[in-house]
Amino acid sequence: MKGIVLAGGNGTRLLPLTKITSKQLLPVYNKPMVFYPMETLLRAGINDILFIVAPDHAGDFLKLLGSGREYGAKFTYEIQDKPEGLAQAFVIGADFIGDDNITMILGDNIFEDDFSETIKNFRSGGHVFAKEVTDPERFGVVKFDENMRAVQIEEKPKTHLSNYAITGLYIYDNRVVEAARQVKPSGRGELEITELHNWYLKKGELAVDIVKGEWFDAGTFETLLRASSLMAEKAKKQQ
Ligand code: G1P
Repeated sequence: MKGIVLAGGNGTRLLPLTKITSKQLLPVYNKPMVFYPMETLLRAGINDILFIVAPDHAGDFLKLLGSGREYGAKFTYEIQDKPEGLAQAFVIGADFIGDDNITMILGDNIFEDDFSETIKNFRSGGHVFAKEVTDPERFGVVKFDENMRAVQIEEKPKTHLSNYAITGLYIYDNRVVEAARQVKPSGRGELEITELHNWYLKKGELAVDIVKGEWFDAGTFETLLRASSLMAEKAKKQQ
């Protein structure tokens, strides 16, 4: 199992903060945002990690994270020239992925949960994670049947589908590279990751688990602040 941290995009929702740096390098309490998703992968035993970054601040990521040796890991870097969607990561990362399975995490997603067991036990198909939220229209949304089996997934649905957002952690088998190559740009010009979830869902090969602990997509002013406060509280408790 290899890992990808996707830290592309322009971070336009965080302007003017992102005028001089990348969203994923902004501080969340006492460290750069990207440390949290990186640590989620490291904690799960993944130590061969590709960082996909936007061209503007690519050098800053290299400076911050380096070879990965400090973390007992090996870090590789690729550029996503334009924010053309999350599914594009598997096309950009195809050589890196090779014949392996892949776990991708978004560079602005912060999880409390430990995913080690799920990742260790992963064999094939797709495995994604949902969390109940009050603002599902901002996310990919999953609808469950009465047995909590996923029946429908839509990216930013216009009409209410459910309150379960699909979070930014995705485990896929190697077929995802081929599936990603088939995806066509959506109305917003992006290769949507939701299409990949649906590719596996249609085959009956998508598992959807519920995230138990806190989860943040720290890409807005409010969630950035809340993530910082929570991390500060947690640090105080550990003292
Ligand atoms: C992306 C995905 C969406 C997912 C979200 C999680 O949204 O497209 O399915 O729910 O990340 O953070 P974006 O941040 O591109 O709006």
